[in-house]
Amino acid sequence: MGYRIAVVGATGNVGREMMNVLVERRFPIQDVHALASRRSIGTEVSFGDRTIKCQDLENFDFAKADICLMSAGSSVAKEWAPKIAAKGCVVIDNSSCWRYDQDVPLVVPEVNADAIRGYTKKNIIANPNCSTAQLVVALKPLHDVATIKRAVVSTYQSVSGAGKEAMDELWQQTKSKYVPGTDVHPKKFTKQIAFNCIPHIDVFMEDGYTKEEWKILVETKKILDPKIKLTATCVRVPVFVGHSESVNIEFEKPISSEEAREILCNAPGILVVDKREPGGYVTPVEAAGEFATFVSRIREDETVQNGLAMWIVADNLLKGAALNAIQIAESMIQQRLLKSAA
Ligand SMILES: NC(=O)c1ccc[n+]([C@@H]2O[C@H](COP(=O)([O-])OP(=O)(O)OC[C@H]3O[C@@H](n4cnc5c(N)ncnc54)[C@H](OP(=O)(O)O)[C@@H]3O)[C@@H](O)[C@H]2O)c1
Repeated sequence: MGYRIAVVGATGNVGREMMNVLVERRFPIQDVHALASRRSIGTEVSFGDRTIKCQDLENFDFAKADICLMSAGSSVAKEWAPKIAAKGCVVIDNSSCWRYDQDVPLVVPEVNADAIRGYTKKNIIANPNCSTAQLVVALKPLHDVATIKRAVVSTYQSVSGAGKEAMDELWQQTKSKYVPGTDVHPKKFTKQIAFNCIPHIDVFMEDGYTKEEWKILVETKKILDPKIKLTATCVRVPVFVGHSESVNIEFEKPISSEEAREILCNAPGILVVDKREPGGYVTPVEAAGEFATFVSRIREDETVQNGLAMWIVADNLLKGAALNAIQIAESMIQQRLLKSAA
């Protein structure tokens, strides 16, 4: 018993992780196809202990796949997801293109696996923004117990969230600081990213917020609860992999830091590391390559009634993208929603 999988964007940061996660989680596979742009025809990508040659998305027959894991950006998703879905292949897309469509479920399985059932309207399921995914995993169990009124989120987002060229830019700029005469001017980012922080991710909106900040708000409401008020500041930092978030939460009901710690310790997808001593917390370097969402620095925020503050870290390429997409596919199998098992 296995499924036929197509990975679109297989040469990218997220696509490569998708291939790894499929193997690592022993996803039931009959066949796997690596797809990318025409530029990458014949490029080899790893799949466990073998390599697979990339094919061109445009010439692939999606009748040969049951599930398409897509991570090739919004314009590719806009054009191709409906065409692929029309062939009977369920699309799980990582871009922002379909996330806000009423007929497309936006899913983080630990939070709203039931919403997957709505996929039949378009045969498309959306994966949230990387910062939203790890945030809602941590907020959900606390919301269930004490009802979140408002959250203030500040993100510290790694460059891998902006694709493979962004990682190269950080690497080249970092090296150039030590090799005189090899200055690398910003291309992917608006300012120098090495040894710096940039409070700007995605485009600016009319109200002064950036689209990345808007996405966290709108996606948290769609996945978790439309009544939650949220404000965010998103910052790009010179970290290769792993997004961090400092979060202040105001609840309707009283909740102590001890209760929150206990709840989070027993919640799916979360690992609490909170020793209140030097080094007794998780940083992105330790979260990289891990499936868990880590919560540290849980403490009471005395500036509001029923307030908590915490630090949330996860691998943005895994929980923020590839892992979450594959968890959605696994949940479809568990819920017996995938028809085309061979
Ligand atoms: N990185 C994250 O943390 C993260 C988290 C959540 C969601 N996402 C989303 O996932 C998507 C991919 O991100 P990424 O970081 O993996 O980007 P990336 O490293 O730049 O990779 C982009 C991938 O898309 C492929 N592609 C581009 N244009 C294409 C076309 N016209 N036809 C077919 N394939 C095409 C590229 O293939 P070639 O190599 O052939 O160009 C490559 O495989 C984006 O929508 C991003 O917003 C990323």
